[in-house]
Amino acid sequence: MRMHKKRNLEPRMQACADLLIARGKPCPNVKEAAETFRALVDYSDLFGNGNPVHLEVGCGNGGFVAEMAKRHPEINFIAVEVCSNVILTAMERIKEERIPNVRFLNTPAEILCCYLPEGSVERIYLNFSTPLPQQGYVKQRLTSPRFLAIYKALLKKGGDIRQKTDSEAFFEYSLQQFAENGFVCSEITRDLHASEYVADNVVTEYEKHFSDQGLPIYAAVATWTGEE
Ligand SMILES: C[S@@+](CC[C@H](N)C(=O)[O-])C[C@H]1O[C@@H](n2cnc3c(N)ncnc32)[C@H](O)[C@@H]1O
Repeated sequence: MRMHKKRNLEPRMQACADLLIARGKPCPNVKEAAETFRALVDYSDLFGNGNPVHLEVGCGNGGFVAEMAKRHPEINFIAVEVCSNVILTAMERIKEERIPNVRFLNTPAEILCCYLPEGSVERIYLNFSTPLPQQGYVKQRLTSPRFLAIYKALLKKGGDIRQKTDSEAFFEYSLQQFAENGFVCSEITRDLHASEYVADNVVTEYEKHFSDQGLPIYAAVATWTGEE
């Protein structure tokens, strides 16, 4: 679906600057940036407290992170989204609702290590990450080994990834990648909304779209053991 650039994008982004940790890429080459550039955040400066940090990668319009942050004021949330046009809606929502425990990275997930200290994150949410075809695009999937290596660097030992998706093929691929890369999977369900795990579930924008069509939602927790 083609999305029109939001009106007054730049001044509106500017108005939310206090919520934004970083935007764009520090240099045109993502690989070079990931390896060389460091501007690590100090969470106490950022949030004014030492609460645990949870990350959402690909937050879209921010409905999930807004609801989670309201339910869990004892957690600090960082929402990552590559597309400025999309993250703007999320940031404006957090600003308008004056939710104090969310900050944003408008950067590709590939360069998370430029901004977030190693071993500093307790949980990563991957909600309806673009499934992308296995043929030709597998490395761009957000559960491919190169992304799992980034998450492992960021996660504390015993921290976890919580994945939800509408794509069975992407889900099965992800379970395999988690298992092959030092994660232990639990709470696996191929129909989240009919499962015992639905009680605390916060529905995302994409999740509502798919479940309104009667499609099952696949979900799992992948815990980082700290062992390869
Ligand atoms: C299908 S949408 C899901 C949005 C939201 N999580 C939900 O469930 O409603 C996937 C989002 O991930 C973002 N995204 C895709 N690849 C990304 C990457 N490498 N880094 C950061 N964000 C990414 C896209 O721009 C898009 O907004």
